[in-house]
Amino acid sequence: MLLNFFKSKKNKEPQPLFYSTDIHSHVLPGIDDGSPNTDVSIELLKAMKSWGIESIVATPHIAEENFENTPQTIKNAYDKLNTRMLDLGVEMNVLYSAEYRIDDRFRKMLEENNILVMPNNYLLIENSFVQPPIDLKNIIYELQLRDIKPILAHPERYGYYQRKREVYETLFHSGCEFQINLLSLTGYYGDREKETALWLANKGYVSFVGSDLHHFGHVEVINRFLSSKEYPAIAERLAHSIKNDQLL
Ligand SMILES: [Fe+2]
Repeated sequence: MLLNFFKSKKNKEPQPLFYSTDIHSHVLPGIDDGSPNTDVSIELLKAMKSWGIESIVATPHIAEENFENTPQTIKNAYDKLNTRMLDLGVEMNVLYSAEYRIDDRFRKMLEENNILVMPNNYLLIENSFVQPPIDLKNIIYELQLRDIKPILAHPERYGYYQRKREVYETLFHSGCEFQINLLSLTGYYGDREKETALWLANKGYVSFVGSDLHHFGHVEVINRFLSSKEYPAIAERLAHSIKNDQLL
């Protein structure tokens, strides 16, 4: 009986992911809390390939409090990974940018025009999980002045916004685009994150979905999601409204 219950929640085969360009992951080796080395990076890339991902923009953390990466440390990690990919014949279009925490270091880098943007001048930014930056609207404006298009990473994960959803509206209408996490759609972070991600999708506020892949634990969760009964409807809901596959 119990076995039948689990069977009924699963499809037989995993379905392909509903996008083929991923814009948020921590697969560059050894520079943040994602992949620790090139071997793990290669395995993570293979998992992404198995979902149907063909291109990625890797986005290691740049944050004053823990990951003081620079364009150079990121390029070095990319070069290492690229060399191993060529050695092993792993084919994947890998580009790189970063996930910028809005902090004083970021404000300084912005002032110095020392920012590693994505194709089409997009930039992935993230808030602290503890409190929102007091000047986010100003940062968005400063980026726009420089012709840079901000994408706020995982807005559904910030507790202080979940409780004040009108902020999503204000940010969206000020020109900040939103990237929700694939993992949020699985319920991995909790019911509230999942519900908020789906609310944002239903409002039409979601421009991108990203894996935010850090490790094999995340791979397993996404594998299960792609085989789940609820996946096709969620994929259908988002596939035509997101811009992932128009980025490159
Ligand atoms: Fe991330």
